[in-house]
Amino acid sequence: MADLTASFHDHTFQTPLMNASGVYCYTTEELDNLLASKAGTLVTKSATINYRAGNPEPRYRNLALGSINSMGLPNEGLAYYLDYVLKKQADPTVPTLFLSVAGISMAEDLDMLSTIDQSDFNGLTELNLSCPNVPGKPQVAYDFEATEKMLAAAFERFHKPLGVKLPPYFDLTQFDIVAQILNQYPLAYINTINSIGNGLYIDVDSETVAIKPKGGFGGLGGAYVLPTALANVHAFRQRLNPEIAIIGTGGIENGADVFAHLLAGADLVQVGTQLMKDGPDVFTRLAAELADIMNAKGYHKLADFKGKLKTL
Ligand code: SIN
Repeated sequence: MADLTASFHDHTFQTPLMNASGVYCYTTEELDNLLASKAGTLVTKSATINYRAGNPEPRYRNLALGSINSMGLPNEGLAYYLDYVLKKQADPTVPTLFLSVAGISMAEDLDMLSTIDQSDFNGLTELNLSCPNVPGKPQVAYDFEATEKMLAAAFERFHKPLGVKLPPYFDLTQFDIVAQILNQYPLAYINTINSIGNGLYIDVDSETVAIKPKGGFGGLGGAYVLPTALANVHAFRQRLNPEIAIIGTGGIENGADVFAHLLAGADLVQVGTQLMKDGPDVFTRLAAELADIMNAKGYHKLADFKGKLKTL
């Protein structure tokens, strides 16, 4: 029988599955529902220091091949999510949790990292450098100089396990450059990919866009992004120091997609659009489908195939 236990540094999770930040993780109620599901762990909605209402609605749409969103970082503020993870870490039955932050400026990111550093939080912190949806604010991780500055400043003040959420890259030279930057820092992990930013869905019947913010431009998720996500996981696994773990995010609809992410080199996987469509029960189905594939292939544990993608 397949064992889905996932190792991530010195943490062990019941399954390699978790939510993608931004999906089903805004409130303590949603977070509790994730904990009660087959997800191995969870990540909180990317927080700013203070509550943010986010962009005007409609700002998320399910599409036949995925989703488009321009949420604009709506969230309850860092204190809310930090309070949640601190309370939960006192419970020995709760797995190690991930706390995500996405400041609107570098100063805000650094402020939040200092707050977390000085707190008792002993989980994993994720610095989101890739939100495409705040009007007027480019995705930090597409600016290599800014990314390097951000990481240098972050590690001056942050002494706990830190990961970064990256946008998709599309050229092999970008993978080389970004990996060279990331390898200079004691990162616990990268999370790849965020949505493919600034797609535009057009409904031909009504001749309109699908979401209100930014004239309809928004981040794509779901089936649209799976090959890009797999490429980013694999390209970074080939280039990053082995101590930097990888969370694969993007386009997971079924157990085969989870298997593909792990085969490409992901240590854990996150589910966004499909979680939005199905709710936390999606993790029961994904875990069963992954186990079925492993059983059919004669694999007993994730390490039997993780990172072992073959080329032709
Ligand atoms: C959002 O809140 O706009 C999504 C966050 C992200 O893509 O990082």
